[in-house]
Amino acid sequence: MLDLDFPTAQAAPASAQDWLATQEKLRGDYSTCATDFTITQDPTAYKAAEHRLWQKLFGRQSQVAQRYAAKAFLDGMSNLDMPSDHIPDFEAASKRLRALTGWEIVAVPGLIPDDAFFRHLAHRRFPVTIWIRAEHEIDYLVEPDVFHDFFGHVPLLTQPIFADYLQEYGRKGDEAMRLGATRILARLFWYMVEFGLIREDGAIKAYGAGMLSSATETAFSVDSPKPHRVMFDLPRVMGTDFRIDDFQSTYFVLDRFEDLFAAMKQPFAPLYARLQTARLIPASELRPGDGVITKGHQ
Ligand SMILES: [Fe+2]
Repeated sequence: MLDLDFPTAQAAPASAQDWLATQEKLRGDYSTCATDFTITQDPTAYKAAEHRLWQKLFGRQSQVAQRYAAKAFLDGMSNLDMPSDHIPDFEAASKRLRALTGWEIVAVPGLIPDDAFFRHLAHRRFPVTIWIRAEHEIDYLVEPDVFHDFFGHVPLLTQPIFADYLQEYGRKGDEAMRLGATRILARLFWYMVEFGLIREDGAIKAYGAGMLSSATETAFSVDSPKPHRVMFDLPRVMGTDFRIDDFQSTYFVLDRFEDLFAAMKQPFAPLYARLQTARLIPASELRPGDGVITKGHQ
């Protein structure tokens, strides 16, 4: 599985150096990054083998997407005119994004601290890792790479309602850090950005970056009888534990992206206070009141 680029709920470090010192084995080169952890992507610096790996991943995952992805994701892929045979030029993609939704991509060396991550999202900047995995990691990756970040996340940034949702998510970051609730907020990113499903004309479709950049989890999330599929409910999502070492036991399902955006309008502080003292719902548990779409045979 993938250690995804979502808030990690660590205590805020005093400086970038302090943060780096707490990280183990980060692959990227952080020596040249700015205080906001951005760097410059040189699209000409990639080796031919790296472009070939992108091509291989793109070929496989675009087939998965054609079959299982939500219309918004597929529209996003075509809006971006995402290259199939080479690692994308971030600036070229940013030009398209700015025109569509006012978002842009910023290049980063890899995982970045929560406060920097939230701040970028709040300003409609999506951090994308510049490096690509090694050939032997095609199905297993420890940190998010350019394929996960770009292929998985950028298409939905072309969709105004999802783009607005993600900015609202970033804006919630400061408060969550102040209230010690980053982990609670992170569950919303995990379930509804990395592993989200949506109903379209009665059919379940995938839109989450974590599943759509994975070789096998997309089909599992949509087709398998094993996981639960439960209607989206914000407090339920934020109060539910998740799996980082295996496919999810429960997926949360939207009817419309507007529901996700609308849920961001409620005050989160009372929600955090309640969830901080509540029992964490195990990833595989169904609760009374759940809008169960499919009960899994886990
Ligand atoms: Fe991600």
